Amino acid sequence: MVEIRSARFDDIAACATLADELIGPRRARPFTEAALDRRQLLVASDNGSLVGCLAYTTDWFNCTFVSLVVVKPDQRRKGIARELYRAVEAESTSPRLFSSTEETDAASIRMHSALGFTASGYVDNLPQGCRELLFYKRLDGGRHV
Ligand SMILES: CC(C)(COP(=O)(O)OP(=O)(O)OC[C@H]1O[C@@H](n2cnc3c(N)ncnc32)[C@H](O)[C@@H]1OP(=O)(O)O)[C@@H](O)C(=O)NCCC(=O)NCCS
Repeated sequence: MVEIRSARFDDIAACATLADELIGPRRARPFTEAALDRRQLLVASDNGSLVGCLAYTTDWFNCTFVSLVVVKPDQRRKGIARELYRAVEAESTSPRLFSSTEETDAASIRMHSALGFTASGYVDNLPQGCRELLFYKRLDGGRHV
């Protein structure tokens, strides 16, 4: 049974291992620690074992922006990312939810479409060497103001 909850300090090593795939070993730990300090790091835990994490920020043009989501490779296509996004949607005080991915990441692009995001432009000139695609989803109801 997968539980989605806020991260705790003792989740950081496992979150950094997951984040490593996306942002590399040098940035992974400080990135996840900063998200934990802001209380904007969610984890998916399967019987105590960390199988996914999602970091977000609320200081991006005054909107909620998902800055990282990773699911453990052998746990993919089980709806874990879907549940992590459901949790950030419930926590978001802004009705504007943004997320992004490299234009070469086909799985992530498919996931954003499946979760109801629409394309919302792109960012050029990043050090990663390809465009970062932006995605947007309007949230209604709940605590969104
Ligand atoms: C992208 C990623 C987070 C998806 O996580 P996941 O837990 O496997 O996603 P889910 O199981 O919740 O998928 C939800 C829906 O997205 C779509 N989807 C997800 N992965 C897909 C893939 N590889 N191919 C096609 N569609 C996919 C499907 O429609 C899926 O629903 P379905 O399985 O019922 O068909 C995961 O592949 C990952 O960690 N990738 C590496 C990191 C990354 O690219 N992060 C995104 C940029 S920050």
